[in-house]
Amino acid sequence: MRVGIIGSGPVAKALAGGFLRHGHEVMLGTRTPAKLADWVAGNPTARVGSFPDAAAFGGLIVLAVKGTAAADALRAAGAANLSGKPLIDATNPIADAPPSNGVLKFFTDLDESLMERLQREFTDVRFVKAFNSVGNAGMVNPQFKGGTPTMFICGNDDAAKKIVGGILDQFGWETADMGKAEAARAIEPLCMLWCIPGFLRNDWMHAFKLLTAP
Ligand SMILES: NC(=O)c1ccc[n+]([C@@H]2O[C@H](COP(=O)([O-])OP(=O)(O)OC[C@H]3O[C@@H](n4cnc5c(N)ncnc54)[C@H](OP(=O)(O)O)[C@@H]3O)[C@@H](O)[C@H]2O)c1
Repeated sequence: MRVGIIGSGPVAKALAGGFLRHGHEVMLGTRTPAKLADWVAGNPTARVGSFPDAAAFGGLIVLAVKGTAAADALRAAGAANLSGKPLIDATNPIADAPPSNGVLKFFTDLDESLMERLQREFTDVRFVKAFNSVGNAGMVNPQFKGGTPTMFICGNDDAAKKIVGGILDQFGWETADMGKAEAARAIEPLCMLWCIPGFLRNDWMHAFKLLTAP
């Protein structure tokens, strides 16, 4: 697949590395392409461009920007470049205020997720929440002693979720589909839970697993 990644931070780079490793074509999008010179030198098959360049390039889009900037980044990418495309939304609505006893603060509430806000504005983009509930170091083919970890996903478009499920298979995850976009109200706060051991004990390598009945 051709994957356009809107973002240039640790998540964008980790997922880009995974897509490249699994044979996909990748373009990272940033407001400042020059700052990715070292990254491109280490990943010579990858491309770098602006937010609109990456959105236009991708048949599959990944959104991996600061949560407070997510809507602005999509506006900059251009609705026409995103129209009709599946989009993996890895963002979390983390507020600028510091964590309290290791618990992050969000700028959303339990009755409205960031992904729903984005879906409401970009109505024909096929959003799928994924990769928001694990650290970037564990996103691609992670090894945990408890076995294959679970990625919770949601979104309104079943075909888009199927595409994302295929990527998750490649990246070494089992997929738990939690339904429509409203489920992001529950999936986004998994990030808060995931981060607590990190802030309290500097333990940043773990993932969730859903145990099911035999
Ligand atoms: N770090 C993790 O391990 C992790 C794990 C799961 C989910 N997440 C979520 O994934 C997202 C990306 O996280 P990250 O740690 O990779 O990096 P980040 O520092 O949260 O975001 C960096 C990206 O945000 C963009 N950005 C920042 N301010 C902007 C603005 N005002 N307008 C437009 N774009 C702006 C930057 O654009 P430029 O490229 O132009 O500088 C850059 O691409 C976040 O929502 C985070 O909560 C992070």
